[in-house]
Amino acid sequence: SSFWLVVPAAGIGQRMNAECPKQYLRINNRFILDITLSRVLDSLSFKGCMVPLNSQDQWWPASESARDGRIQTCVGGRERADSVLSALLALEGQARNDDWILVHDAARPCVHPEDLNRLVVALAAHPVGGLLAAPVADTLKLASDGAVPEVCETVDRSRLWRALTPQMFRFGALKQALLLCLDHGQSITDESSAMEFSGKMPALVEGRPDNIKITVPSDLALAEFILGRQ
Ligand code: C5P
Repeated sequence: SSFWLVVPAAGIGQRMNAECPKQYLRINNRFILDITLSRVLDSLSFKGCMVPLNSQDQWWPASESARDGRIQTCVGGRERADSVLSALLALEGQARNDDWILVHDAARPCVHPEDLNRLVVALAAHPVGGLLAAPVADTLKLASDGAVPEVCETVDRSRLWRALTPQMFRFGALKQALLLCLDHGQSITDESSAMEFSGKMPALVEGRPDNIKITVPSDLALAEFILGRQ
């Protein structure tokens, strides 16, 4: 079966307080989205790539990716899951139900080629698929829900992982899972959640903790540092 890449890039990046969405901020004078797309597309062999963009997007035409013949675009949706679903619907007729879809955040430019390879090799024979993830390093506290949060308990972190991307699932199963969540008004923040809601158990593939998602302004300098060291 073939591999397809979906890079949701339709967010508006509210937490960055920037004048443009975070995927269009620059690191080493390149759009974050361009760094992300070229790294993933150059690391693995894909049949195609779909990038859902915001309907108000004014920056894409200025990107390197707009001139990359491997990349197609479509219009994204209100939430990340809506954007991923619209990408899958745009791939309908091109992708087959048992083809693999890799979904990778536009805001994760530091993903390492070795991690991409390890994910694909680890999951090639897996019935469900799975995701890159990193064991939790900090001690975790469960808070009370009062105005001033207090510690209710310390959570056992030995079985807790941070979900990263890419997340890799079969085209048909992922589409069905996202549609099921939509039907049930189930709000989800990654593809694994949709598969879990469908009763599946995605595999966790340990990835590098420096595969950060650019979320707040200080993440920009951190990503530049990580990219310079890799
Ligand atoms: O906001 P957050 O950091 O969770 O976004 C993760 C990724 O999902 C980003 O690449 C963002 O552009 C994308 N996204 C999207 N459509 C939305 C919201 C977020 O494609 N409606």
